[in-house]
Amino acid sequence: MCGIIGCTGRCEAAEVLTKGLRRLEYRGYDSAGVAVVDGDSMAIVKRAGRVDSIEPYVRALRGSTGIAHTRWATHGKVTDENAHPHASCDGRIAVVHNGIIENYRELREELEARGHRFRSDTDSEVIAHMLEDALRSFEDPLQALLAVCRELRGSYAFLAAGPALGDALLAARKDSPLVVGLAKGAVYASSDVYAFIEWTDDAYFLENGSVAVLRPGEVRAALLDGTPLEVRPVKVAFEMSEPDAGAYAHHTFREIMEQPEVVARALAPRPEVDEAARAISEASQVFAVGAGTSYHAALVARYVFADVAGLDVQPVLASEHGLFLRWMGPGSVVLAISQSGETADVLEAVRAAKSRGARIISVVNVPHSSLEREGDLSVNVRAGPEVGVAATKSFTAQLATLSMIALRMAGRPLPDPERARRLVSEALRLEPAARELGNRLKGSDDLYLVGRGVHYPLALEGALKVKELAYVHAEGLAAGELKHGTLAMIEDGTPVVLINPGDDTHSDTASNGEEMKARGAFIIGISDVESDLYDVHLRIPEARGVELPIVEAIPLQLLAYHLALARGAEIDRPRNLAKSVTVK
Ligand code: AGP
Repeated sequence: MCGIIGCTGRCEAAEVLTKGLRRLEYRGYDSAGVAVVDGDSMAIVKRAGRVDSIEPYVRALRGSTGIAHTRWATHGKVTDENAHPHASCDGRIAVVHNGIIENYRELREELEARGHRFRSDTDSEVIAHMLEDALRSFEDPLQALLAVCRELRGSYAFLAAGPALGDALLAARKDSPLVVGLAKGAVYASSDVYAFIEWTDDAYFLENGSVAVLRPGEVRAALLDGTPLEVRPVKVAFEMSEPDAGAYAHHTFREIMEQPEVVARALAPRPEVDEAARAISEASQVFAVGAGTSYHAALVARYVFADVAGLDVQPVLASEHGLFLRWMGPGSVVLAISQSGETADVLEAVRAAKSRGARIISVVNVPHSSLEREGDLSVNVRAGPEVGVAATKSFTAQLATLSMIALRMAGRPLPDPERARRLVSEALRLEPAARELGNRLKGSDDLYLVGRGVHYPLALEGALKVKELAYVHAEGLAAGELKHGTLAMIEDGTPVVLINPGDDTHSDTASNGEEMKARGAFIIGISDVESDLYDVHLRIPEARGVELPIVEAIPLQLLAYHLALARGAEIDRPRNLAKSVTVK
């Protein structure tokens, strides 16, 4: 995964790079590093840990050309040596890389045979050594860069800087995002616009499979076969998120609490929703592709489209799309659901489906993301920047947006955004009860979450939130499946969250709850209906139809948050994870 940023020209590299790294930490936060060029010397500061750990050292660096990296480890442990940038043997080139170089072992062997000495275990370091050699063979850095890229297999977005390049930066991308920002007298490049938006809103999205030499006021770009590219920047608009969590203890908590506004905004009618509804009604087959939480939104969409529009939508786990490709041809529509719009598995599925003739409708949150740009049509879910690694407000915004598309398609009235705002606000009043429950359950090793029908994907989503935030083993189950095996796990005091609203699933789910209670389970009911089945009742407001899954998500998120808090887990950046998963 990882995030990269570079700048050159009329700018203070140390400031641009540290600010940029903070904005890129959602892509990985195992380690961070910076290289700043000052005339004929280059300083590299890098360390395992967060951006905070290098910031004081970086602030002291002088120079206006530099590159930086925030890492999510793929090859090589989380150590100072494996942190980027990686330098060439002569120390005149440094590289930051996002992606995976699949043939790095062969390349490394060849380079070592030629006398290159490696300092890290990463796949990325080969690029620095290859550039060192290539820059000796080619006078034109663009040709050197092309020669290196032609040898690389895998996915990459990388930037190179160093005394060997003067004030130039080298940039290359294949299957990982890279965007160039153009300003008066300065040029920037990063994994996303968000990292440099403070400095310029003129962006040039590098084409997939292309390279560029960036100099202040000049960008030369070419495809990997050497064909020159015309550089046409576009204006980008990007909402800047609060750099801190404001009055809240964590971004995740702020994002949970923002949901009344988010859901109301997502439910506002807009032309893209109508267009998507039209495209879907003309489709021979409809798929909904996503990963993690976004896949859970796809599962909810299956129930919602079936219920309100009588349409069969096939949910597809992005990483398992291969099985479904044979049906993703002309006439079919793929709803590609993603908060970040950069998830590698989703992009891969979308590209494969598109090449077979399927129409892609992206349902994304991050504007200008790869998915938004690559879709035939894009519907933004309007959740606003989501900083916490756990998806919260983007999930409810996805549910709201997908429900609108389904209702539009069926020609049925849309939910009232003001009513939805009120319902979500009421559900948020469960916060003190969730806090108490979090404290009560903090010693539990397992948690089961159970639902039926459209509430089953909510059980899956609740379990994912508990795992990633609180590091507690949690399992989401279809209520009817319990007796087919998992019931054996229930013993005295086993906590079970029963998603049991008063709709047509109520009595069957309640019976399953009774079966667990008879075996000692501690039942936490999420319901708008009173029942003595529940040992603890998280009473949600009375919602109906498409509103229900949105409202149910709130107590599940609050419970996961408070369980994490009670256990002292790191909330905004859970261990081993990253906000945007840009590797397969
Ligand atoms: C959700 O809490 C997770 N952090 C994760 O599962 C996420 O939903 C998944 O990686 C997909 O991301 P996307 O929505 O940005 O594509």
